[in-house]
Amino acid sequence: MNNIKAVITGVHGYVPEYILTNEEISKMVDTSDEWIMTRIGIKERRILKGEGKGASDLGYEAVKGLLEKTKTSPDEIDFLICATVTPDMQFPATANIISDKVGIKNAFSFDVNAGCSGFLFALSTAVSYIESGRCKKIVVVGAEKMSSIVDYSDRTTCPIFGDGAGAVLVEPTTESNGIIDFILKVDGSGRKHLHQKAGGSVKPASHETIDAKEHFIYQEGQPVFKYAVSNMASVAEEILKKHNLTANDIAWLVPHQANLRIIDATANRIGLSKEKVMINIQKYGNTTSATLPICLWEWEKKLKKGDNIILAAFGAGFTWGSMYIKWAYNS
Ligand code: UT7
Repeated sequence: MNNIKAVITGVHGYVPEYILTNEEISKMVDTSDEWIMTRIGIKERRILKGEGKGASDLGYEAVKGLLEKTKTSPDEIDFLICATVTPDMQFPATANIISDKVGIKNAFSFDVNAGCSGFLFALSTAVSYIESGRCKKIVVVGAEKMSSIVDYSDRTTCPIFGDGAGAVLVEPTTESNGIIDFILKVDGSGRKHLHQKAGGSVKPASHETIDAKEHFIYQEGQPVFKYAVSNMASVAEEILKKHNLTANDIAWLVPHQANLRIIDATANRIGLSKEKVMINIQKYGNTTSATLPICLWEWEKKLKKGDNIILAAFGAGFTWGSMYIKWAYNS
């Protein structure tokens, strides 16, 4: 049997400086800090300002920092995957742009678009390339400039999203710690509840699509909420059962940060107390593909070798999934 496992050997993140508070949002649309805090759990989010800046600029900062802190030369990287729903442009891939900006030259790269589950889907791709023996050092980065597709006159979506990026380095190991397993799911019929109506091949950009505000996020909050609560909790529970784990065995749950109520429901379903759940939604909002690596980055110093960690996500697609990691290092 192949005993090569993939392991995360470093993590880094980046959030832009500008802080968009609930107070400021309350001046743009009819809402309040109280409503946003009770229904979503977000106090503020970061926004990338500046002409000509895109997701790759956020990804660049995360990847550059990752390579520096892990003392990895860009030349050693053989694969970079970028999870994003807000690519710099339709093509080429933002992964290619990040690789170029960071100076990664001996690698191939591509983007993964799996909505808010993008980082999980991308990381699972890296796992497969490592386990097969094909790659030795892979960067997985989730990078999003969500502010580029948010309609700041729509109170049902504009408080939710923020900009940011997080990246991990993935390498092979023959030790027992590493990425143990993952479960990924998709139900494309859910697309009707959460999508961007125009700008793709079905409805290319036109004056009409712009006037109709069809280049922004379209979300029917309630059905998305319902599916997110039930599926994120189920898939987290499924991976625990598969590995005979109980809440006591788990050091940390790393949930996608879309809504505090969805996070709470997932933790409750697997019987996990709140101290074991990584929550930073109040500071950054929903950064889509970047929520999970930004959490790992912020909690990195608290993580211990051998900790059982469960990642869980749900997003547009619908896509959802979970991952079981035995953390491999003390920092
Ligand atoms: O990561 C990708 C996956 N996305 C998600 O996981 C998002 C899932 N959905 C949600 O998190 C929630 O559904 C929302 C946060 C989007 C909305 O919360 P909700 O508790 O489901 O509110 P609702 O849509 O049922 O709206 C309740 C009321 C409505 O007013 P009426 O019709 O009852 O008079 C809305 O118009 O709240 C109103 N409302 C607001 N009021 C103040 C909606 N947005 C706002 C707002 N401020 N920002």
